[in-house]
Amino acid sequence: AQKTLKDVYKDYFSIGVAVAPRNLSGPEAELIKQQFNSITPENAMKMGPVHPEENRYNWQDADAIVEFGQKNGIMVRGHTLCWHSQAPRWFFTDTEGKQVSREQLLARLKQHITDVMSRYKGKIYAWDVVNEAVPDTGKSIYRQSKFYEIIGEDYIEKAFEFAHEIDPSAKLFYNDYNTESAAKREKIYQLVKKLKDKKVPIHGVGLQGHWSIYEPTQQQLEKSIEQFASLGLQVQITELDVSVYPKEHERRQKKDTDQSVYTEEMIQKQSAHYKMLFDTFRKYKGTVTGVTFWNVSDKSSWLDNFPVAGRKDYPLLFDQNYKPKKAFKGVVDFK
Ligand code: XIL
Repeated sequence: AQKTLKDVYKDYFSIGVAVAPRNLSGPEAELIKQQFNSITPENAMKMGPVHPEENRYNWQDADAIVEFGQKNGIMVRGHTLCWHSQAPRWFFTDTEGKQVSREQLLARLKQHITDVMSRYKGKIYAWDVVNEAVPDTGKSIYRQSKFYEIIGEDYIEKAFEFAHEIDPSAKLFYNDYNTESAAKREKIYQLVKKLKDKKVPIHGVGLQGHWSIYEPTQQQLEKSIEQFASLGLQVQITELDVSVYPKEHERRQKKDTDQSVYTEEMIQKQSAHYKMLFDTFRKYKGTVTGVTFWNVSDKSSWLDNFPVAGRKDYPLLFDQNYKPKKAFKGVVDFK
């Protein structure tokens, strides 16, 4: 029989995938049930989509995803409770359009976390409590978001405390991208260390893992995992994909790769890169506790048209017909 991701990795870590409601029927649903034992709502539990107005929640999509998980014995990973992006404007303003006070915003944050987590209490094993709070550049460890501007740096610990109070058995994560760049890794480390020193209930760091066939190096990845693990935290790869294009800031040095053509060279490089990534994750058994892919197959990825409009990407392990790619083999053939 054909190997599956979740079986091959059952002694190492859970294997997840980001899903939208449209993935829950048809061939994608079959693939999800066959290969994965965890799902993350791609958008349905974010502040804007789930909480579009102060006293109105939009539970339909989030409910459908949790129900699909429950029905099929697939765990659900929550994403995300506090993020500057996809946050609704009403959250930061009062009825007259004036910016809310620190107390008002904290009260809203608490209400939001309470309502969302209570609804799914016991059905979500881990939450990305705070997402992308650290900027890529500059000295400050805090992104200048509305949360930071209005509340101050303690919005982060408050979010974790509210979350822990609602569901003490859920594992709580700080989640971010670019976690392998030395400068950002260091800032995230400082942030998370402060939380640990203050006994804030945080259990892990999520490395989003929006990588490419050019990055990260194995050494960079190991350094990140080890540094966060040194704080006694688990590490999960929460949004894995391996773009076949260089990241934007490196594009000028690389040859032009904007033709949307999936070349033999890309296929080779991608297979090798995926193999290196999973070889590394397995090295950290017990520390790396979950690996989640960001979308199901190359049929449709959030990287299609992003960050370059009109460009298709091929970042996942299954092709546009839902068939395992060459990279899949390298990931499952290790015994
Ligand atoms: C992305 C979704 O995949 C898209 O559908 C949406 O339009 C934008 O957000 N970091 C995160 C994820 O934490 O929530 C983002 O998901 C990708 C980057």
